Amino acid sequence: MLEYLYPLRTYLIVSGVEKPNIMAADWVVPLSFNPQLLGVAVGRQRYTHKLIKELGEFVVAVPTLELLKEVWIAGTLSGAKEDKLARMKLTLLKSKKVKVPSIKECQANLECRVVKELEVGDHTLFVGEIVDVTFGDAFIKGKPDLSYRYIMHAGFGNNFTTNTNEKFEI
Ligand SMILES: Cc1cc2nc3c(=O)[nH]c(=O)nc-3n(C[C@H](O)[C@H](O)[C@H](O)COP(=O)(O)O)c2cc1C
Repeated sequence: MLEYLYPLRTYLIVSGVEKPNIMAADWVVPLSFNPQLLGVAVGRQRYTHKLIKELGEFVVAVPTLELLKEVWIAGTLSGAKEDKLARMKLTLLKSKKVKVPSIKECQANLECRVVKELEVGDHTLFVGEIVDVTFGDAFIKGKPDLSYRYIMHAGFGNNFTTNTNEKFEI
């Protein structure tokens, strides 16, 4: 019944240091302003799960529509079996505070350190403290430029949409 929560925004989760890995994730949730916390629910069988457990760090990267192909690769192949990065047109950059790298082509990279782990059914909710962030032109003074098309997953499977480019002020 979780499908009734969709569409949800889609992000990329970077994990690992020596051989970094990237997976797609819809289940990313803001949790606290002070300290700045977010949660990501990662299936226990994912390679990302193993890497986050081992290193206690991850990066949440914000892709735009131009990266849909990369998102799909990240969300359908496992780093346990494939060198996903070799198939993706993405550039890894050194992050500011964590050892896990950031993604150059993404509009924001939120650097997180795990402060809590909660076993929730078949997923683990990794609670990350956001220790630093880098961002691109899509963010002006912390606000998103809505002419950029942020990726939204339109249900389980291969359906995607974006925000509508329209702007409203109330
Ligand atoms: C758009 C999209 C969103 C996804 N969201 C999540 C998610 O929030 N949590 C999760 O555990 N898996 C999610 N998945 C599945 C993983 O990305 C997928 O199983 C991936 O192959 C795991 O890679 P890994 O084994 O290299 O970590 C999603 C897949 C797609 C295509």
